[in-house]
Amino acid sequence: MVREYRITLLPGDGIGPEIMAVTVQVLKAIAPTHDLQFHFSEVPIGGAAIDATGNPLPPETLDDCRQSDAVLLAAIGGYKWDNSPRSQRPETGLLGLRSGLELFANLRPATILPQLIDASSLKREVVEGVDIMVVRELTGGVYFGQPKGIFETETGEKRGVNTMAYSEGEIDRIAKVGFEIACKRGKKLCSVDKANVLDVSQLWRDRVVQISAEYSDVELSHLYVDNAAMQLVRAPKQFDTILTGNLFGDILSDAAAMLTGSIGMLPSASLGADKPGVFEPVHGSAPDIAGQDKANPLAQVLSAAMMLRYGLDEPEAATQIEKAVMAVLDQGYRTGDIMSPNMKAVGCQGMGEVLLKALG
Ligand code: IPM
Ligand code: MG
Repeated sequence: MVREYRITLLPGDGIGPEIMAVTVQVLKAIAPTHDLQFHFSEVPIGGAAIDATGNPLPPETLDDCRQSDAVLLAAIGGYKWDNSPRSQRPETGLLGLRSGLELFANLRPATILPQLIDASSLKREVVEGVDIMVVRELTGGVYFGQPKGIFETETGEKRGVNTMAYSEGEIDRIAKVGFEIACKRGKKLCSVDKANVLDVSQLWRDRVVQISAEYSDVELSHLYVDNAAMQLVRAPKQFDTILTGNLFGDILSDAAAMLTGSIGMLPSASLGADKPGVFEPVHGSAPDIAGQDKANPLAQVLSAAMMLRYGLDEPEAATQIEKAVMAVLDQGYRTGDIMSPNMKAVGCQGMGEVLLKALG
């Protein structure tokens, strides 16, 4: 019996279309082996959507995503739109997608690949064996709290305001995701907050402690975010699963990604309660190398593997893709961002070709 899935493709901006093209080839190649059939639809988001429709998240794009089984996103953004009003910025489309699909849980793995260990800016002994999962809350906190805006005070002076707010329900549901993920990994969960200063963080900590009663086999610890940032670069191997809010997670996941030395290798998953998940690389749209066949498609390809594993419950297909990525690295193929001496330089398409061969 063939299992059919509707996949929405959002290539977006910059290198997005190039890395998406490689990934679609990979998905098409593995489908028959696993009795899968994918029905792809491609719709615009971000800068591409602004240029086409004037809206970074056209309603048709959100509708298409809602009707899908999973959404594969590449990257959005570029210099061209950097000075546009907020409603006309690519990032606004991405945030609208996250809230529109209620993707409150963002999973960002940072795993050191043995083949790329020397690409890290930290010493080998510090990073060897690092395997961290950052669970970031994605639809709340200071990104979305009200009031927000730039207001004029009585004296005519402008005042910029954002509000960091979390309700108990928002904390509980992301905490449960954090504990569930920790259960499947090393059974250690570190919740990161700023409870020494922020009331919103005190509530966060109280609720996480409360929820931990349901997960007695997970060892729970807490760190303030400043200390967590320091510990991540000092001794990253102490971490297994990190649970944190939207802004802290944004920052810490970039730091965790860089431990691996290759942000071009890292996938992510954004999940909600029932709607389709969105799977995307952690890196951005790299407008400086767009259209030059220099981009590393592997984070996008690994995002497709995460889509199969976490979005579609097709772990065998996911494993086949992940193994092919390891194989091409073992064979020495490298794009510019992960190049090191004596390795074989390939472009984006070239990496796609060797991947297809490695899939067998
Ligand atoms: C990320 C990005 C986004 C964020 C931007 C592009 C809105 O930095 O996915 O981490 O801040 O969440
Ligand atoms: Mg970020």
